[in-house]
Amino acid sequence: MEDTAGRLPDEAVEKLRGSECLVVLTGAGVSAESGVPTFRGKDGLWKDHRPEQLATPQAFEKDPELVWDWYHWRRSLVREVSPNPAHYAIAELERRVPDFTLITQNVDGLHLRAGSENVFQIHGDLHHARCSECAAIIALHGQEGLVTCELCQGQMRPNVVWFGESLNVRYLELAYSAAGRSDFLIVAGTSNVVQPAASLAYAALGNGGYVLEVNLDPTSLTGSASATVLGKAGEVLEELVRLAFGEPSESRV
Ligand code: OAD
Repeated sequence: MEDTAGRLPDEAVEKLRGSECLVVLTGAGVSAESGVPTFRGKDGLWKDHRPEQLATPQAFEKDPELVWDWYHWRRSLVREVSPNPAHYAIAELERRVPDFTLITQNVDGLHLRAGSENVFQIHGDLHHARCSECAAIIALHGQEGLVTCELCQGQMRPNVVWFGESLNVRYLELAYSAAGRSDFLIVAGTSNVVQPAASLAYAALGNGGYVLEVNLDPTSLTGSASATVLGKAGEVLEELVRLAFGEPSESRV
């Protein structure tokens, strides 16, 4: 394991250049440079809010308005911000490596706005709501208050995965299958404490894949990753793409 402060190992650049199956796993740190707060850390969302009061089915049952308002606030915030160089670098990687999968824990939709296409938003997305009764999904366009399902009059809830809920099984199968066959996996901007995302890197390592971690600080993965680069995801990933592939193939959207 190589632990570097902001410096990309040559081996990582060379292996990425030759990669035929690339997986990128992202967390809140990738959106931090856009101005979206992370969950943990000194300015993280979980510093002022308890997850069990806002991000559990029980919290929604107890006080749907509070939960809805919190998600509305987060949705309004991400509408005001733009993708950053990390999102664009990841979208560029998809254009460079034929077998590419992006797995994100982020619900902000910024990867899609940056042009990524093959994306599993394994924790759902902020911009849709789902009926608690009939599971109908609707796009949200700035609705402030609680929304009722037009089909069954059930209570709409944010289309996100809450603590204590299961992830989409099909997404998980595809995510593990991609990680298991990948020759290169990038883990960027995640504290690696929430399962099952935290174990995807080990699926790659177990099959001989190269795992590059990019984070401001060391995490529990740092000792096991092939290399860890400590730095801002936007800067490190932009540099990684430039070193491996040269200038971007398309202008930004
Ligand atoms: P966290 O807030 O736990 O971790 C963010 C990570 O990003 C930390 O390790 C930071 O050091 C790192 N970081 C911050 N800024 C960065 C930057 N500019 N460049 C690189 N790294 C940076 O967020 P997640 O790991 O995404 O789940 O959290 C996982 C899940 O826990 C979330 O999806 C959410 C949360 O509770 C649910 O809501 C179900």
